[in-house]
Amino acid sequence: MESPTSVVYIESNHMSQRKKTVIEILRDSPGFVSGEAMSTKLGISRNAVHKHVKSLRSRGYRILGISRRGYRLEEEPCRLSMGHITDRTVGSRFGSSYRYYEETESTNVEAKSLANSGAPEGTVVIAEAQTAGRGRLGRRWTSPAGKGLLFSVLLRPALPMSEAHLLTLVAACAAAEAIESLAAAPVKIKWPNDLFVGDRKIGGILLEVAGEQDEVDWIVVGIGVNVNTEYSELPVALRRTATSLKMAGGESVDRSELLARLLLALDAHYAEAVANGFESALSGFRQRDYLLSKGVSVQTREGPVVGRAAGIDERGALLVELPQRQIRRFHSGDVTLKP
Ligand code: BTN
Repeated sequence: MESPTSVVYIESNHMSQRKKTVIEILRDSPGFVSGEAMSTKLGISRNAVHKHVKSLRSRGYRILGISRRGYRLEEEPCRLSMGHITDRTVGSRFGSSYRYYEETESTNVEAKSLANSGAPEGTVVIAEAQTAGRGRLGRRWTSPAGKGLLFSVLLRPALPMSEAHLLTLVAACAAAEAIESLAAAPVKIKWPNDLFVGDRKIGGILLEVAGEQDEVDWIVVGIGVNVNTEYSELPVALRRTATSLKMAGGESVDRSELLARLLLALDAHYAEAVANGFESALSGFRQRDYLLSKGVSVQTREGPVVGRAAGIDERGALLVELPQRQIRRFHSGDVTLKP
């Protein structure tokens, strides 16, 4: 008999009664509600009303505000269907323990804390919104509430620390395969952890690891995908380099089905890596290598190194052919394209 699935729903603990009332007032009014009327109904200043509206917008409520007319609720945030996700993943490694957050700091932070308290392999942490989403190299990952996939899975493989990083390739191949199965957009992987559609980034992977040199204790694989994000919802600094599946394909994508497919693909690719090593992940990466044969600049502590990307070696290191033809290997680093 299958063990029952546990889904712990964590509603945002910051959603005050006032904010709930703001939403109710807006829901009940098909037209605009003036700031004045809101402030009288709520018994707070107009400035305080404005602050509540601003905070609701960050949670995915689309509230139009026009001076001298007031506020109108345009759209409420979409929620993932946990019922659909748990039905689709039943019996898989990721089928039994879920934590679903309306909003959290970072699913990786939550998953790491669960890992340290002994949570089992296969635990999945999902959020509709993150207040401090983490990216590689200390960067931030931002995504409007309810528009992307933001989740982390907990793994406890019997691997030496020196091989843990290869799970980034495993996760990237699984994510690419799942996205292609639903969104019909060819996905490339930019070494080591970026998912690309065309020449724009749609997703990224952040691996965090703990353990001793000869054995990993846990690995948290955090995955972020821009799914139904609109151009105007991308941070201004990323509008020339990032995209979403909706922007690329013109149609909304079912986030719950995408997450289910991604977890199933990750289960299969991870099982293959644990049983037979990383050959299949390396070859999957090579078929999707975004940088291959392109001019690149790799940022290192000694400054940028410029050359031509020449694939990856059997340890997943990036190979770059320098102008004098010798090959240099990079185990980590930030890579940008160079004409
Ligand atoms: C990158 O491109 O630098 C990696 C981005 C990884 C973002 C995901 S979103 C879910 C998970 N939680 C985090 O805080 N980060 C990862």
